[in-house]
Amino acid sequence: MQLPIYLYGQSVLRKPAEEIGPEYPGLEDLISNMQDTLEHADGVGLAAPQVGLPIRLFIVDLRPLADQDPAFADYTRSFINPKILEYSDETEILEEGCLSVPGIHENVPRSTRIVLQYQNIDFTQHEEVFEDYAARVIQHEYDHLNGKVFTDRINPIRKQLVKGKLNNIVKGKVDCTYKTRASR
Ligand code: NI
Repeated sequence: MQLPIYLYGQSVLRKPAEEIGPEYPGLEDLISNMQDTLEHADGVGLAAPQVGLPIRLFIVDLRPLADQDPAFADYTRSFINPKILEYSDETEILEEGCLSVPGIHENVPRSTRIVLQYQNIDFTQHEEVFEDYAARVIQHEYDHLNGKVFTDRINPIRKQLVKGKLNNIVKGKVDCTYKTRASR
């Protein structure tokens, strides 16, 4: 089932999300609905606050990039209560977008390598290294759990230039192929 995606301007996107435990109701259904939503919207990552839930959970789906890297052919992952333990000093600047910020694509610097601690759906704890594109997507989604969106990280001049577009998103003036929920 597809869920509406909350747009820039919604307060849930600015709230630090809370950790969850195994008692969280309907977690499997929620992840499956988030996967449907992400796939339909042609995105590569979706965090729970983007579907209106202030909890520490995000999913990553790198299958749209399988043409460029066959390793992504069946790359769908979910991360619960994630914590980035290490960021590489080396960073790379690449263009990003966000399903909550439709129509805006801007350069964002990100570490090229991170160490992530997270839990699986069964709440077992894992620690894993991610690099390059996967590391970027995870850092972007992780920001969502801390009330940040990628436009917070773009350079101030560019930010000024996209201000009008951001205001339109707040007002719900967007052209999306997926269901959205604007703040007004
Ligand atoms: Ni995003």
